[in-house]
Amino acid sequence: AWRPDDEDGSRRGSSGPVRVRVPAKINLHLGVGPLRPDGYHELNTVYHAISIHDELTARRGDTLTLTMEGEGTGELALDESNLVIRAARALAAYTGLPAHARLHLRKQIPLAGGLAGGSADAAATLVACDTLWGTGLSRDELAAIAAGLGSDVPFLIHGGTALGTSRGEAVSPVLARPVSWHWVVAVADGGISTPAAYAELDRLRDTGAAPEPLGSTDELLAALRQHDPGVLAGALGNDLEAAALSIRPSLAATLSAGTQAGALAGIVSGSGPTCVFLATDARHAERVAAGLTAAGVCRAVRTAHGPVPGARVG
Ligand code: C5P
Repeated sequence: AWRPDDEDGSRRGSSGPVRVRVPAKINLHLGVGPLRPDGYHELNTVYHAISIHDELTARRGDTLTLTMEGEGTGELALDESNLVIRAARALAAYTGLPAHARLHLRKQIPLAGGLAGGSADAAATLVACDTLWGTGLSRDELAAIAAGLGSDVPFLIHGGTALGTSRGEAVSPVLARPVSWHWVVAVADGGISTPAAYAELDRLRDTGAAPEPLGSTDELLAALRQHDPGVLAGALGNDLEAAALSIRPSLAATLSAGTQAGALAGIVSGSGPTCVFLATDARHAERVAAGLTAAGVCRAVRTAHGPVPGARVG
């Protein structure tokens, strides 16, 4: 049986509770390449972590349990299919420890919204249980376990702004002088399934109805270095946007309402249906948010800034 104490009698890990905050992500550039034999698409993406957070608290327990409050309560299954439970079990399997923890999730990131909320919660679980159990894995080891849980999970361990390649799980930071970008986030009713969005893009491409693929991230990376929101606005792009608009045609009205409200640019976030808009500064973001709210084209409007760190204790 597992003993909660080390040989020297000191308790291994933390007596808890361990609280981890984890951000939502958007993709400043989401270039979707061909479908691979393993069912994933080759990606060239630039991830960006923004200041909408979920919070996971881990306490010691005799079994593995999960409770939640906030966004999606009552809709999200809390059983073995939940990415939080799967993340805890994956870390336990890797370290040989029993998966014993009482986990509580406070969600602000909408479900199936294109903001990687489920992936964020998985990343938070790895970081929280690593501390609770005292497993002391490196960020790279955590990122390797993360990659097995989902393509976006490694990025949410790292946070910031980062390049994602392969199926998105290969992440390298984009080094830039510190600058904050200001965003307005239009949260839609309901979600879009990620596989459904990718399948719709494949269908549109097969029938010649999809726009030219975006390809490389070079222009976006050059735009980031200029620190000019007007330049960044011109470089934002998402190959999955056509698919999200095809699945949810009403998103066209959301996107145009944002630009009519004065945003520099708007894009669908990831596989949607959340739309994100770039503003020049925090005050401008508040004005765009007010305009979007008045237009009545989405369930909720939030302002956010980025980049912010990935999953962190505290
Ligand atoms: O990696 P993750 O489990 O988040 O991916 C969910 C689904 O999204 C995959 O099963 C696949 O259908 C699609 N996907 C893809 N190409 C990627 C990432 C995800 O087709 N690079």
